[in-house]
Amino acid sequence: MILVTGGAGYIGSHAVLELLLAGHDVLVLDNLCNSSRQAIERVEYLAGRPVNFVKGDVRNRPLLNALFAAYPIGAVMHFAGLKAVGESVREPLRYYETNVSGSIALCQAMAEAGVFRLVFSSSATVYGETSVMPISEQCPTGVPTNPYGQSKLMAENVLRGLANSDPRWSIGLLRYFNPIGAHESGLIGEDPNGIPNNLLPYMLQVAIGRRKELNIFGNDYATPDGTGVRDYIHVVDLVKGHLRALERLEDTTGVHVWNLGTGQGHSVLEMVRALEEVSGRTIRYSIKPRRPGDIAQCWSDPRKAWSELGWRAERDLRTMLADAWRWQLQNPRGYTVEKKVPAALAS
Ligand code: NAD
Ligand code: UFG
Repeated sequence: MILVTGGAGYIGSHAVLELLLAGHDVLVLDNLCNSSRQAIERVEYLAGRPVNFVKGDVRNRPLLNALFAAYPIGAVMHFAGLKAVGESVREPLRYYETNVSGSIALCQAMAEAGVFRLVFSSSATVYGETSVMPISEQCPTGVPTNPYGQSKLMAENVLRGLANSDPRWSIGLLRYFNPIGAHESGLIGEDPNGIPNNLLPYMLQVAIGRRKELNIFGNDYATPDGTGVRDYIHVVDLVKGHLRALERLEDTTGVHVWNLGTGQGHSVLEMVRALEEVSGRTIRYSIKPRRPGDIAQCWSDPRKAWSELGWRAERDLRTMLADAWRWQLQNPRGYTVEKKVPAALAS
């Protein structure tokens, strides 16, 4: 059985589905602070199998101990965490406590239970500002400009220290580039609270008419059209990378770092045009000053994951956007307000 912390969230819910489809039993631990129980119900529907779900906090050691005692957990995928960059600047302690202390509590409980295989959600943000593209795993980590990024780097360092201290640990640090898209069914996807920080959810809300226009943060970067360039990766490809990492960690020990990206960069304007094409809607935008802390460009060298995991991203930008758009159309207000069971679920 695989314990998936944060399994009701955007990436976690897609990972739970992929694990179920691959035949794993899954236990989800999530406090639902940024997600909905509905995501799990929909995953169960899609997989045709139940998920063990416990509402609780990853920092709760007694609860963790009880879960490891009650379930035959063989490995952990650790998604639970807070991820809003701006919020992390305002509430740094909450971010360090959840993302760093939460990871420590989890590892303590794992060690006590004799479970040493862990897949950790890290981020390309740990590379900080680097001008050498593409970014490979050999690229030194930098100085993340906000507490969120710092907390991810700190958690990585905690896990390295742990693996150095005890050869039984087998840990994958998966550095995500920019996950977007949704499951092709349109039943699970990203459901941000309030005003979205990230490009894709914001653009989708403009396309569907919930917001007037997109603010493009800067068109004077040293990129082909002046707007920021990122490596967008389909969330289903991303979670498939997690399954490969989980398998690989079964026959190796120590810490392994893998970039999960496509290796291709796309600018904000390219994304706008591509979503207009896929959705048939016009996306109004206006150019605004650069967003503090943003880098001009960032894309991965994904070859290490290919050579060591036999994994690479397969879905192109059009598929990412078509799947994201389907999710948005079917769930215009996400899970929270959309209490009605979608037609596909009712049948
Ligand atoms: P998300 O917010 O949708 O999912 C995180 C889940 O963790 C949520 O369901 C939330 O309720 C749960 N959670 C938060 N704090 C918890 C706690 N203390 N105890 C138990 N559950 C808790 O975010 P996501 O996009 O699915 O991200 C998953 C992981 O991937 C996070 O660790 C995030 O930092 C990392 N990551 C995300 C991105 C991205 O762009 N989405 C990029 C790089 C890394
Ligand atoms: N952008 C806009 N307008 C918006 C939102 C974003 O122009 O309303 C631009 C940004 O300036 C940037 C690009 O769109 O050039 C992508 O921005 P996102 O906020 O979607 O993503 P980031 O690359 O800034 O950061 C994301 C996550 C981080 C994570 C990082 C790397 O938010 O947590 O990817 O994985 F660390």
